[in-house]
Amino acid sequence: MKFPPSLYFFIFGRNPQLSRAELLSYLLSRSISIKSHQAEKDFLLIEVLGSLNFLELTTNLAGTVKFGKIYFITEESNKILDSLRQLNFYIEDTKNLTYSISAYGNNIMESHYHEVFKQLYKESKQKASLKKPTPSGLSNALKKHNFIDLVVCKSQNQFFFGRTIGAYDIKQNKLRYEKRPYVDESIGSSIRISRILVNLSQKVKGKLLDPFCGIGTILQEALLLSFDVLGTDLNSQRVQQCKENLTWIKQQTPKYLPDFDIIQADVKDILFKIPPLSVDTVVTEPELGPLLKNIPNSREAQIIMDSLERLYCIAFYNLDRLLKPSGTMIFVIPEIITTNNKKIRPSVHTLIADTQLRIISEISCEELTVFFPIFYKEKWHKLGRWIYLFHKG
Ligand SMILES: C[S@@+](CC[C@H](N)C(=O)[O-])C[C@H]1O[C@@H](n2cnc3c(N)ncnc32)[C@H](O)[C@@H]1O
Repeated sequence: MKFPPSLYFFIFGRNPQLSRAELLSYLLSRSISIKSHQAEKDFLLIEVLGSLNFLELTTNLAGTVKFGKIYFITEESNKILDSLRQLNFYIEDTKNLTYSISAYGNNIMESHYHEVFKQLYKESKQKASLKKPTPSGLSNALKKHNFIDLVVCKSQNQFFFGRTIGAYDIKQNKLRYEKRPYVDESIGSSIRISRILVNLSQKVKGKLLDPFCGIGTILQEALLLSFDVLGTDLNSQRVQQCKENLTWIKQQTPKYLPDFDIIQADVKDILFKIPPLSVDTVVTEPELGPLLKNIPNSREAQIIMDSLERLYCIAFYNLDRLLKPSGTMIFVIPEIITTNNKKIRPSVHTLIADTQLRIISEISCEELTVFFPIFYKEKWHKLGRWIYLFHKG
């Protein structure tokens, strides 16, 4: 039986590789070191050196469903009840407690822990009722002083018992997406993915450019993280809509947010509009080609990708010149799966040929490594998307 002083659990969302990459980027960009880790498919246990800013973690990370502190580890599954009797992390100073329990890992029976904690509460004469909030209700439930969310993770035949500190606020993020003056699902990235893309840039401040800014979903998330945001788009209507969306988010947000600058520009002419070496990071989901009604055959897909490759080639050449020497870039590269299951995407090596940009194939902290590029595809997407990370120099 162990009582780890600074061990935390992170439960991941739909795309665990993306969530893990976001968390690792967050830790690296804030120089937070990891002492040890245990990784399972949909969660991660990490022991950190130093302290974590819980409020920042809760509001910043979009790929982590919930995170919290581990209070106790054991290998002896038959003595769990005895061991837990000596602890009190599941007790709260309130007359009526509401609690929920979730279990993660291979072959773990959540219902068994319902019985374990029912017994413990009975013995300690704590009035407690088991009530699991909906995924979108968890964040709000955690704000109530008489609610706790207990977690049991099983990894390498050890059982980790903890309590949730923060959860991704699904409701709040849905509002941020839907209540904006302009929403266009055909061009806008999701709030969750946009936030993750910004975090993957591994920057915490400075000038962030989206050269295909559309209605400004990525810029909105970057602004909320206090970046100085700069957006350009070919389409004057999008530029106007982006400005209105960003003005709205500033009005909605109680804390001070920096100013933003949105300019109408073709990415091909962007060097005439933005000074060289003035940008810290580029984060973009670019023009992805025509909206696909049907799955294209190989020839049709190749025509689309050739045209996108030409556009991206010029974009990469120009963006490289705008980036500062230590600049980073997150660029989403589309992939079409054709009628005969061929996967077609632009050649990234061609895109970086005349630039100082390097493809980053992995990021790591101690022995925790995440590989890039990372694939994602939402249910409603016809195109697959590869998230690439580039460093300049
Ligand atoms: C997929 S949307 C971008 C979504 C956006 N990143 C967001 O966060 O909401 C692509 C945008 O690229 C713009 N675009 C297309 N060709 C362009 C070009 N050559 N230069 C600049 N913008 C372009 C389109 O007008 C469209 O708004």
